[in-house]
Amino acid sequence: MSAPALKITDLKKTYATGTVALKGVSLEIPQGDFFALLGPNGAGKTTIIGITTGLVNKTSGTIEVFGHNTDTETELAKMQIGLVGQEVNFNPFEKTLNIVVNQAGYYGIPRSVAIPRARKLLTDLGLGEKMDQNAMTLSGGMKRRLMIARALVNEPKFLILDEPTAGVDVELRRGMWDYLTGLSKSGLTILLTTHYLEEAEQLCKHVAIINKGQIVAMGTMEEVIATHHSGEPAKDGYRGGRLEEVFLKLTSDK
Ligand SMILES: Nc1ncnc2c1ncn2[C@@H]1O[C@H](COP(=O)(O)OP(=O)(O)OP(=O)(O)O)[C@@H](O)[C@H]1O
Ligand SMILES: [Mg+2]
Repeated sequence: MSAPALKITDLKKTYATGTVALKGVSLEIPQGDFFALLGPNGAGKTTIIGITTGLVNKTSGTIEVFGHNTDTETELAKMQIGLVGQEVNFNPFEKTLNIVVNQAGYYGIPRSVAIPRARKLLTDLGLGEKMDQNAMTLSGGMKRRLMIARALVNEPKFLILDEPTAGVDVELRRGMWDYLTGLSKSGLTILLTTHYLEEAEQLCKHVAIINKGQIVAMGTMEEVIATHHSGEPAKDGYRGGRLEEVFLKLTSDK
């Protein structure tokens, strides 16, 4: 059997402030999966992603990316990953095209290859008209799409997106989900976090729900819903989809 795209074992993280963000998280994402990591604000999702991508130091535990241990084969592990972070983090004074091309430079991809690749990615993501403008001229949703183009320019095998559709309007959001579904069908492994539970329910194969630094449910989308959905509303008033009911039941204090 081929190594999973991501294998996290007993991951713990206590920040310098004393906040215990992860209390022993284990999860496995098979190659080719479309995996949703869901949880309320502050549950620990971005911390997991930060440690996986080498931006945050862990307290203990192990992480393997396609079988490469992030402690002992750091560069090999990192090279497999494309990251779309939760915060916008590019230079707004830079040209949109150059942001993507320069990222390719970090991976040693020659400009003659990077430029056409960046143009295609930006065009596919609906930013063809904006390529030659400074990134500051992009709207919020466009900035998120620029970050997806940048994350894909080194042709990673594993794409991690931390709330890719936050602040993106309905039509563009659908477009983005279609785009990600297409990437998934082409074989790319995807891990994402989102607070749009109906979309995750429809599109993702596997799901983990995390609450206060611990996984409270994990499996295929169908398994998690079948195991935890009682048919009763989790709360009075507005009712969401099945996954939303399960999510509230497992994560709500009230
Ligand atoms: N740099 C940091 N220093 C100290 N505490 C932090 C730091 N980053 C995150 N935390 C804390 O760790 C916990 C988990 O935060 P994290 O950002 O991983 O949550 P999240 O699940 O991504 O939430 P959200 O849905 O709001 O993005 C929170 O209590 C948060 O306040
Ligand atoms: Mg987060």
